[in-house]
Amino acid sequence: MISIKSKREIELMRATSRLAASTLEYIEQFIKPGVSTEELNQICHDYIVKNGAYPSPLNYHGFPKSVCTSLNEVICHGIPNKKDVLKDGDILNIDVTTYLNKFHGDTNKTFFVGNVSEEAKKLVDVTYQCMMAGIEQVKPGGHIGDIGAVIEEIAHSHGYTVVEDYCGHGIGREFHEDPQVVHVGKRGTGAVMKPGMTFTIEPMINLGVKHCKVLKDGWTVITKDKKLSAQFEHTILVTDDGYEILTLREEEKK
Ligand code: MF3
Ligand code: CO
Ligand code: CO
Repeated sequence: MISIKSKREIELMRATSRLAASTLEYIEQFIKPGVSTEELNQICHDYIVKNGAYPSPLNYHGFPKSVCTSLNEVICHGIPNKKDVLKDGDILNIDVTTYLNKFHGDTNKTFFVGNVSEEAKKLVDVTYQCMMAGIEQVKPGGHIGDIGAVIEEIAHSHGYTVVEDYCGHGIGREFHEDPQVVHVGKRGTGAVMKPGMTFTIEPMINLGVKHCKVLKDGWTVITKDKKLSAQFEHTILVTDDGYEILTLREEEKK
């Protein structure tokens, strides 16, 4: 069942989502060669807690840290640790989810560490375009399948593949709610969007094959061919005439 948020619930979704977005902005200055993903986790954790919220990933189904840090061939759900020290040329996704006033807000971004290759830059750039094109499909009466259709089309036009094993999701009082938002598919299929729905769009785009492998830690998802993967994520509200991106900072909202 897809929940429809009331006006008051939407206000609370805005607040938690805004905090998730400002956490991502805050962490950017610390992303440099020599820093470990463990340190980045701690900085995000402290920032979220200082702002009166709880980091949703921490202890979620046993996840041991406060954010996900996914480096290079890691598709998603990377676990921050001391051994992963950033080096020049890496791409790093940080996925932040905050729990504030009983609501979750979820956003992620792939960052460049120092100077990255043209190949990596283009993958990250196209992945961002995929997310934004997916977001632009959101409107009442539209279908969830419209989102995946455009994402798949753009990714394939550049010779990239789209991860199918993980998808976007409804979000609100629960971290993961209905509907599932797959990042491939056909126009006009899937649930019909209605004002008050809130869900994420978070395409994972690979340079090589779309297939995934989960490491022995039970969380870290990598590409089967160990080629690069990038991701971006926003939490979106279906409005009366289109969409609102909830995971923007105050300054980014017009
Ligand atoms: N934030 C991720 C998402 O976009 C989920 C992370 S679950 C965790 O859905 F347990 F790995 F944190
Ligand atoms: Co998400
Ligand atoms: Co996320």
